[in-house]
Amino acid sequence: MSLPTPQLIRQLRAPPLTVKAFWPSTVRYGRRLSLFPYMGEMRMLELRIGVQLHWAIVDQEYLDSLTPEIDAVVDLGSGTGHNLLQLRLNSNRSDIPFFGCEIEKSWRAMLEEARLGNVHSISFDFGNPDFGFLDGAKRVLVLSHSALVFGGRQRELWEALFQRVVGVKGCLLEHVSFAIPGVERPLFPRATAELCGHNLDLFPTLAQLAEGGSIQFDEIVPDMTGVGPGAAVSLIRFHRVPAHHQGRDK
Ligand SMILES: C[S@@+](CC[C@H](N)C(=O)[O-])C[C@H]1O[C@@H](n2cnc3c(N)ncnc32)[C@H](O)[C@@H]1O
Repeated sequence: MSLPTPQLIRQLRAPPLTVKAFWPSTVRYGRRLSLFPYMGEMRMLELRIGVQLHWAIVDQEYLDSLTPEIDAVVDLGSGTGHNLLQLRLNSNRSDIPFFGCEIEKSWRAMLEEARLGNVHSISFDFGNPDFGFLDGAKRVLVLSHSALVFGGRQRELWEALFQRVVGVKGCLLEHVSFAIPGVERPLFPRATAELCGHNLDLFPTLAQLAEGGSIQFDEIVPDMTGVGPGAAVSLIRFHRVPAHHQGRDK
């Protein structure tokens, strides 16, 4: 099997599917999806279509997060790197580095094979986070899709990042709806997380960091989308609050 070159990845997701373009066509499923469908609605779709829509949503969320001031992008647990490559292609940003951080050597090799000059594959373990590759970066966009929940010590991971970089913006799509306060019927229940062997601590750790004033949540959308029924991810957007600003709004 050939490795996923940028051209192949382009083909896999071509023609470019956007949520806005997709929405009107969903009427054939008996009702219109809302403009930003959530996982409950996506369950009504054929899996094939739902998966396509899911990746379109991921791509759109990542693209929206990549604002002009960002000077480096990090995808934690990047797998084959397909999300990062797609973002590099969609954004057309050749002026900043994109880092795919992944523990699995064979998956890193797939990202390396793409050979896009400013997309780098980093050997990385959530359990022993070394963000040395970010030296010099000032405003970093951190992404993760269905990955951080596999990590061990969540607090250490964020602290290691914050020690290295002052400006951090996060756009995470993770299986955490069971842990978000106020979500009565999460599409990703705690029992499923336990069954999958997830670390249950991701959202509580972020909530503690927010409580302590070191980050601020910008948006939380529980069970926003999912690659299939039972795999709902929630959107969590946040930014780091620089130390000299902390406590100002309290
Ligand atoms: C479900 S995959 C998601 C991959 C990718 N984010 C995507 O959306 O396709 C989870 C990823 O997390 C990675 N991962 C798991 N534990 C890790 C660790 N301790 N350090 C770094 N990556 C890890 C896995 O190797 C895998 O690539």
